[in-house]
Amino acid sequence: MTIRLGVVLPTYNERKNLRGMIERLDKALAGISFEVIVVDDNSPDGTSDEARAIAQDDPRVHVIQRIGRRGLSSAAIEGMCATAAPVVAVMDADHQHDPELLPGMLAAIEGGDYDLSYASRFAEGASTEEWGRPDRVKASNLANRIANKVTGVELSDPMSGYFMLKTETLRADAHRLSGVGFKILLDILATVEQPLRIKEVPMNFAARLEGESKLDRTVVFEFLVGLYDKWLGRWIPTRFALFGTIGALGVVVHMAVLALVLNLFGARFMVSHYPQEVAFITGQTTAAMVAMTFNFVLNNELTYADKRLRGFGPLLNGWLRFLLTCAFGLLANIGAATALVRIGFNPYPAALVGIVLGSVWNFALSSKFVWGKY
Ligand code: GDD
Ligand code: MN
Repeated sequence: MTIRLGVVLPTYNERKNLRGMIERLDKALAGISFEVIVVDDNSPDGTSDEARAIAQDDPRVHVIQRIGRRGLSSAAIEGMCATAAPVVAVMDADHQHDPELLPGMLAAIEGGDYDLSYASRFAEGASTEEWGRPDRVKASNLANRIANKVTGVELSDPMSGYFMLKTETLRADAHRLSGVGFKILLDILATVEQPLRIKEVPMNFAARLEGESKLDRTVVFEFLVGLYDKWLGRWIPTRFALFGTIGALGVVVHMAVLALVLNLFGARFMVSHYPQEVAFITGQTTAAMVAMTFNFVLNNELTYADKRLRGFGPLLNGWLRFLLTCAFGLLANIGAATALVRIGFNPYPAALVGIVLGSVWNFALSSKFVWGKY
């Protein structure tokens, strides 16, 4: 019996949802030979173990357990490349996507009229339950409009996480997909060269059954990051670009704090002949601490959103490590710049080289020692 459909279930902490999900797939796909690929990023709740337990009784179920990695897009790509079926679907494992839509989506592709079918939350006849947060709906609308511009395809829901396509189409361009964030359908549409014939199916976007969403905090942000990655990521890696931008903002924060402290000293202490140097040292130190803390917080929220440190202990630990890393970065910066000046360079380009070197150093070190797993 040849496998007609591969169903990829990317999972992160979906242990309680998984068994029921596969039961529903079995029911919805009665009469269609299929396999399930669970791609789990080593979820702390033991989703991989649960998947293996299910696979013991059901050989159609396969597990890819990824260690030390996170990300919905890359998980989906790896799952789609792992199936032997000619057609593959990706869907949430949390019961938000109704498996009953699969046969129709498959028929559209197998019939030969379409290359890709997807379920839309905004098509005529669709509905979204518990889609309660109005800010998220708005974000979706704005993001959708940009997305349609970028891909050149008019879709009512290019951010959908529920879609199906021919595996050969996917494989032909898989190496060019960005794999960053969670806009995998959008990524495919923007990447695939040959124009795709797309079938849109309205869906009733259900409420998640168990657990919580991993995506809702940074929908728009992730989307913008994805766009950047597509356009410029090849030349300046996305994470480094973010890190650098936040670093530049840190300089602004530094100057503002310095000005504040100097003004305070000017107003309160200068009259009593406080040495000016003390004012500067105090200001410079305070400003550096505030700026580094600012950088740490922003990098933790944005650059390393997927590896975000949470809770007092890990945050304190990460912050201290970040300060230490920055101290080393500063040494590299000053060392290199001084060496260049010594051999006759103009101080300003030398300073610039120092800054770039220090940033690369900070980036490399902090990604390993602050947000790295090892
Ligand atoms: N392997 C892996 N790694 N799986 C992940 C990761 C990850 O880092 N993050 C999320 N997942 C899994 C979840 O376990 C779930 O099965 C699926 O990917 C979707 O994640 P949710 O956390 O349920 O996302 P959502 O429901 O908030 O977002 C929905 O809307 C988005 C559009 O705004 C989903 O349908 C998304 O696919 C969709 O892009
Ligand atoms: Mn979901």
